[in-house]
Amino acid sequence: MKNPDKNISAVIGGAYSRVDGPLKVSGAAHYSSDRRLPGMLTAVPVSATIAKGTLIRLDTQAAEHMPGVRAVITRRNIGPLYRVNKASKVKIDESRPPLEDDVIRYYGQYVALVVADTFEQASAAAAAVHAEYRSERPNVSMKLSPQEKPEEDSKRGDVDAAFAAGPVTLDATYTTPIETHNPIELHASVAAYDGSAFTLYECTQAIVNHRSAMAQMLGVPDERVRIITEYLGGGFGGKLWPWTHSVLAAAAARQLKRPIKLVVSRKMMFETVGHRPNTQQRMRLSATREGRLTSLQQDYITHAPVQDKRKENCGEATPYLYSTPNLRVTSAYARRDIAPDTSMRGPGAVPGLFAVESAMDEMALALGMDPVAFRLLNEPKIDESLGVPFSSRHLAECLRAGADKFGWARRDPRVGAMRDGEEVLGWGVASCSWMAKRIPAQANVQFNADGTLRVSSATQDIGTGTYTVLAQMAARDTGVPLDRVVVDIGDSQLPSGPMSGGSMATSSLVPAVSQAAKQALARLLEAASQAERSSLSGASVQDLTVTAGRVHRKGSDPASGLPFEKVLQTARLSHVGGSGKSGDSSSDPGADKVSIHSYGAHFVEIGWQPAIARLRVRRVVTFIDGGKVINTKTGRNQIEGAIMMGIGMAMFEKTSYDARTGAPINSNLADYIVAVNADTPDIDVTFLDYPDYALNELGARGIGEIGLAGFAAAVTAAVHHATGIRVRDLPVHIEDLL
Ligand code: MOS
Repeated sequence: MKNPDKNISAVIGGAYSRVDGPLKVSGAAHYSSDRRLPGMLTAVPVSATIAKGTLIRLDTQAAEHMPGVRAVITRRNIGPLYRVNKASKVKIDESRPPLEDDVIRYYGQYVALVVADTFEQASAAAAAVHAEYRSERPNVSMKLSPQEKPEEDSKRGDVDAAFAAGPVTLDATYTTPIETHNPIELHASVAAYDGSAFTLYECTQAIVNHRSAMAQMLGVPDERVRIITEYLGGGFGGKLWPWTHSVLAAAAARQLKRPIKLVVSRKMMFETVGHRPNTQQRMRLSATREGRLTSLQQDYITHAPVQDKRKENCGEATPYLYSTPNLRVTSAYARRDIAPDTSMRGPGAVPGLFAVESAMDEMALALGMDPVAFRLLNEPKIDESLGVPFSSRHLAECLRAGADKFGWARRDPRVGAMRDGEEVLGWGVASCSWMAKRIPAQANVQFNADGTLRVSSATQDIGTGTYTVLAQMAARDTGVPLDRVVVDIGDSQLPSGPMSGGSMATSSLVPAVSQAAKQALARLLEAASQAERSSLSGASVQDLTVTAGRVHRKGSDPASGLPFEKVLQTARLSHVGGSGKSGDSSSDPGADKVSIHSYGAHFVEIGWQPAIARLRVRRVVTFIDGGKVINTKTGRNQIEGAIMMGIGMAMFEKTSYDARTGAPINSNLADYIVAVNADTPDIDVTFLDYPDYALNELGARGIGEIGLAGFAAAVTAAVHHATGIRVRDLPVHIEDLL
């Protein structure tokens, strides 16, 4: 897409607070589990206590007679449920509907649902449901050996010959554990059924996909399912695709003809709503003595559940990140008796870049080179995997400017040589990258006679600022002040919008909103020129424009014109609007002639106090090349949040499974450690802000995920610099350093 707009107005690139912020801090924003519908009942699932086997008996009698219990729903009485047809492009990570059969495939799988008047009654009755199983020994081993033939993901040249020729080589294996999404907002469904149609208040990052998946599973047309997600308290990918509780709640509402609320517990969040699979990545690199890469190999294995399989694409960024004539990336799966995994912030590239960037650091050391200089020396001129130029790549500037701001030149490369009092300091660096794409999007823009401008799309705000950037886009495209824009999202009945995933929502919405605004403006100006008895009547549409919400003749003082609401009132119109629709970036003309990605560099200082075994991230400087940043405040927050998550990934996060029962054992926020403010140092984020017009007319690429990519590798590089210990298995444990 060309048409670079030289006049991106000030509203784009400003530091605006979230328009939904006051609603959230005052409690006026309704999250899905806040919904209270008349006659609503509460449902609590019964979870399997084995990880593999068969349910042979389910005794629900006692539960059914407990106070307040309305139903115990099992396989026998749930009513018809269907699988999602994968050819329909509707996405779901667990294709089996709940209670489909008596086979237990993972610990915590739902075997029944108790519905009662109150949460307490439903919980007590769920505990009284007695299940008997024929149990088999599960395999939840975190040791990965490929059980399927590796697939080749990417290849160029002859890696075997290049690696054999050396002269400097590295062969190292890195692992990342299972990590579990822990948004503060639990997954929840409030389901209502009116005898023919469903209204489902959901926690989803993709309302349109959720509608189609639920329609298929419930066996009704899309039009009879409405999904509402007004606000989300975080998702991190765990809320992208529907999970079994959502279908259970809808099926219960259908059966009981009463609204049903089902809130997934924190423990169930570790069992039934996805996680990042663990990975094992063998990296082989070779280079000349001068530090030019001659080969790069990444052979990785990830967990997959027994039934469904999704690709954790660890090799996503590997083929284009550095220059090397010889490259190979392969992937393989290891099947385990573990629940289906799913996307987690930066799926694929985040664990992938931990391995790639760690290997780059180790290789720099083996060469006796500075790790920044080593990366700069291997900066490619084009995307060598596709043989096409980059649309806009400023990784080298991120590395140089980041090094400058961090003070990298003062780094003493000797292990343990830098100190601050009792702390041994370690300085580490890593690059990062993330895909940049657009997915299909539709939006409406409407001028209203009450003086507001409405922008609407069936997308959702997962807490990242979509309400705010949509308001900015609409304000910029129409000339209406930001505070008069009303944003309507979070309802699947609106024009079909993008999912909030893959850092693609904003970039996808830009062309749709701009088209819709153009059409709405044209209709407004037409109304202005045709209105009788107005100072603008008789003006040609081409001579008119809108500034600060006023329609006026081009070149004249906006004050001489009329507020747009006056124009509509004079024309006796309640509103004029337009609609916009844009496609997938892969179908743009010339899409295959350019390589579009975001880039960045992290510089990290850690402090290690051996006397008290204390490890802390002390300082972070991050430079991000994410295209034009539409809102520098919400944008910075995205990167800061991702870096906090990166501290967690590097130092804390890991879901452990009991080898005997197959249960995730640290399934609570006391034992599954996430980084909190006390773990978070000063985070200094800079956006380079080069617009990338290959993707949309604002040049915005997307910044939700890139801040997490590469970060853990910068931490382990810093740990090595301080201690001489190379941690290749995340997270870094204090014991590793003693
Ligand atoms: Mo992100 S894992 O695409 O929510």
